[in-house]
Amino acid sequence: MTYKQVYQNWQQDPETFWMQAAKAIDWVKPPSKALFDENAPYYEWFKDAQVNTCYNAVDRHVEAGNGDRVALIYDSPVTGVKSKTTYSEMLDQVARFAGALQARGVTKGDRVIIYMPMVPEAVVAMLACSRIGAVHSVVFGGFAANELATRIDDATPKAIIAASCGVEPGRVVAYKPLLDGAIDLASHKPDFCVILQRKMEIADLVEGRDHDWQAFQDGAEPADCVPVSGDHPVYILYTSGTTGQPKGVIRPTAGHLVALHWSMKNIYDIDPGDVFWAASDVGWVVGHSYICYGQLIQGSTSILFEGKPVGTPDAGTFWRVISEYNVKALFTAPTAFRAIKRVDPDGELLKQYDLSCLKILFLAGERTDPDTLHWAEDKLGVPVIDHWWQTETGWPIAANPMGIEALPVKDGSPSVPMPGYDVRILSDTGEEMPTGELGAIVIKLPLPPGTLPSLWHADERYRASYLTTFEGYYETGDAGYVDEDGYLYIMARTDDVINVAGHRLSTGAMEEVLAAHADVAECAVIGVADKLKGQLPMGFLCLNAGVSRDRADVIAECVALMRAKIGPVAAFKLALVVERLPKTRSGKILRGTMVSIADGKPYKMPATIDDPVILDEITAALKTIGYPA
Ligand code: COA
Ligand code: AMP
Repeated sequence: MTYKQVYQNWQQDPETFWMQAAKAIDWVKPPSKALFDENAPYYEWFKDAQVNTCYNAVDRHVEAGNGDRVALIYDSPVTGVKSKTTYSEMLDQVARFAGALQARGVTKGDRVIIYMPMVPEAVVAMLACSRIGAVHSVVFGGFAANELATRIDDATPKAIIAASCGVEPGRVVAYKPLLDGAIDLASHKPDFCVILQRKMEIADLVEGRDHDWQAFQDGAEPADCVPVSGDHPVYILYTSGTTGQPKGVIRPTAGHLVALHWSMKNIYDIDPGDVFWAASDVGWVVGHSYICYGQLIQGSTSILFEGKPVGTPDAGTFWRVISEYNVKALFTAPTAFRAIKRVDPDGELLKQYDLSCLKILFLAGERTDPDTLHWAEDKLGVPVIDHWWQTETGWPIAANPMGIEALPVKDGSPSVPMPGYDVRILSDTGEEMPTGELGAIVIKLPLPPGTLPSLWHADERYRASYLTTFEGYYETGDAGYVDEDGYLYIMARTDDVINVAGHRLSTGAMEEVLAAHADVAECAVIGVADKLKGQLPMGFLCLNAGVSRDRADVIAECVALMRAKIGPVAAFKLALVVERLPKTRSGKILRGTMVSIADGKPYKMPATIDDPVILDEITAALKTIGYPA
């Protein structure tokens, strides 16, 4: 079948399409139907089924006689450790850890926060939660205590599972002080914590609250899989919105299983037993879908890589991993390739490895610029596939479906919508834009299985954030257009979200941090173009009247504050003090115009600007720090 036929099959009869896809899952009680729309616009899939995620990801492969197959490869150039976990070993580890959680009172529906670096235990913890119906929420290790505290208060976890430290090139990041700080800051307190002690940094445990990972599970009875209903959340994953309060994206169990399984062959062209490596982090959606769940649900092999594309130890590390483990497809962010290309522009390090196993490179998280696309195509000699999705959707909205049909690759496009996604381009007033014209990218409701039905304990926020601008459509927050062949082009965000090294960050949240500095009267944060990371945040600070301190000191404090409050991952290092911010007459800060000035792009003088002279002041201030770069 061609892509067109598959997409049309879905369009003509989505119910049959998804019930057919659902046959790949082992149900305790199969669903009677696919879509449940009685609570529209809150849609649910396979709601009346009974099923368990961990059973489908682990047990069933062992029962089918594939227990000796490798489920997870761990490769950590930052610690020098490598290991392989078979499906049988995974079953033992997960069942025992799940049993220990159960013995401590964690039951179906309880939330568990996981704050861990890229270690296999993070995957064990995720699967153990899903085994007993507990809802995990993984928090990325590069976030600071304050961000962790916000998530603790929103998810109200019974337990937190953490590690003593993470390892970044050249430094050990102690996680335990961040965890302790977060628990102090949060109003909600977990019943207990489990700490994986890594030898680089042994953490002090709080008597009565903290348990050592090993001791915690010594003698624990392995837990059985607990069936849950199809709409039961397998996890909550927080993502940046326009404010400092992150959005808790809910992932429902049944839709997640069906959609991820479907995506593995149809989009990624992976078969059971193949090795599929997503070089991301378990703290992001890519890590949930394609480090932990996708491969295991299908019975293929995943790689957990604790390192960076460059510097651990060199820009050949990706090639080493690919050849060493027979990787069939690699998935990473374009920024990783830009980092490699910068260090090894001629691909000299590539020549040291046999990469004949690699068939496809998938890129996502940000737009793949044509330079990076062509460099990767040239050097690797395999199709390089840009594809587009979001934390909210959990799997690709648009892609080149390599397991169905390899469509021609077009520069700057993540190709075509996947079945389940009816993508439209709308004007501000909700009319469909003609081919080739820019508009808001929306998806006609319902969204397909595996996507978010709502936000955690925030139905109204879900509606207000995604469903109200265009009645009947989900607003992606991205702007773009469709060409005459139906290929999508993702051009920009329509909100205050920026993308730094493939990481989604909220400028609104950063402004809240800066505004809290005692000397700052007003501020704005924008995303400026960066050759390596795509975008970098830049802060503009207006100081309180009478502040006579050295401005460099205030800036340094703001940079430190951002690192302490949001975390190093924000990569906030650029800030400047200005007298005034450009605004409209109604007081809205003209962030878009500031971005154009900083990027050296032409812009139209906004008709509603209050005082155009301020733009000259901004231009002059930017020049002092070398912008436009
Ligand atoms: N724990 C603690 N700190 C972390 C961290 C973690 N898990 N992850 C990142 N950080 C820190 C880094 O050490 C760095 O700190 P620094 O300011 O002291 O140097 C900061 O956060 C920014 O990290 P990062 O964005 O990773 O930048 P980098 O300069 O270290 O590396 C790249 C640049 C391009 C190599 C890197 O961003 C990369 O590999 N990106 C791929 C992104 C990706 O996989 N995205 C997921 C979507 S597919
Ligand atoms: P996240 O939820 O962190 O995965 O970020 C999702 C956002 O990243 C999208 O809404 C886009 O703005 C951006 N994004 C992800 N993939 C792509 C892509 N292939 N092309 C362009 N932008 C992308």
